Amino acid sequence: MSMLSAAQWSTLWSRKTITTLESLFPENYDLNIAEFWQQLLVDDCQKIVDLACGNGALSWLVSEYLEKTSAKAQVIGLDAASIDPFTTLNKDPEAYPMVKFLGDVPMEDLPFDSSSIDIAVSQYGLEYANLPQAIAEIARVLKPRSKMGFIVHNKESTVVKGSTQFLQEHKIILNEIRIHELFLQLDQLIGKNREFRKISGKPKIKKQMIAINAASDRIQKIIAVVSPESEIQRYCIPMFNAFSEVSINKGVNRKGVVQASIDGLADYINRIEDLQAAALSNNDIAGLVNLIEKEGFKVTENRVIGYKKSSNIGTALVATR
Ligand SMILES: C[S@@+](CC[C@H](N)C(=O)[O-])C[C@H]1O[C@@H](n2cnc3c(N)ncnc32)[C@H](O)[C@@H]1O
Repeated sequence: MSMLSAAQWSTLWSRKTITTLESLFPENYDLNIAEFWQQLLVDDCQKIVDLACGNGALSWLVSEYLEKTSAKAQVIGLDAASIDPFTTLNKDPEAYPMVKFLGDVPMEDLPFDSSSIDIAVSQYGLEYANLPQAIAEIARVLKPRSKMGFIVHNKESTVVKGSTQFLQEHKIILNEIRIHELFLQLDQLIGKNREFRKISGKPKIKKQMIAINAASDRIQKIIAVVSPESEIQRYCIPMFNAFSEVSINKGVNRKGVVQASIDGLADYINRIEDLQAAALSNNDIAGLVNLIEKEGFKVTENRVIGYKKSSNIGTALVATR
């Protein structure tokens, strides 16, 4: 289950990111992952629901596939967070008449009539919910002849292992090195001064810069082993830029930049801890299969799925009734 609040997820989805795994899937899910979803959609259907859709990665994929095959099904993406993918991603709703998004909707309490949906799908979403409640609710809204398809995080996947591998390093940067605090002290020393050349030679400022450079060296050593390093750079670079000669002369809101950096890195750490908690063990997956079969579905696929060089980026499950 997700430990992040709907508000924390909403903040993430207000960024122009199509998935939370930007480095792995910069455009959207593709290759064999897209194929997995396409083979689920081959039968005629009227309504498809994408559970925990975020910014709609899977909903867009499904709608583009349906468009190509001239199928006329409605795609409804929903999420417990306050999502608005059309606005966030600058997409025109008129270009997607068959796609609709519903925010603030937990999958444990779906706003659909019983037996009204043909296919329920979710990529990296189902495992964030309360599984017994979600599966019972999904089974309620699915038609007597229907399908569910999920790709869920499992504890052995490269996504989970890769992101959690350097969690401790990110925590050291945020909680121990605390370069942001040094920048806040520098901000106080600079005060309202807007002439860099007048302040740069002051002993206290010089001393602070030495402390910042020492902290930066410690961070660089971590960056050398941490991959992907982008989150650390997203934290550091704006602070260094905000304290550059040009920014000081311009009177940039330095405190605001530092606070945004702190919040960004803290959010990332929370998200990775959440991923670690949500990822399913083999036992959890066996339990999930049981829950699905108890609702009268037959699980027809339950396999680890790979992507590019990774032999495990999640577990793919398909069930029919
Ligand atoms: C890792 S994101 C995946 C989003 C999307 N499926 C994708 O592939 O990009 C997990 C999502 O689950 C949502 N979520 C967590 N618990 C939920 C629940 N009980 N019901 C619906 N959505 C939930 C979060 O708000 C978040 O958007």
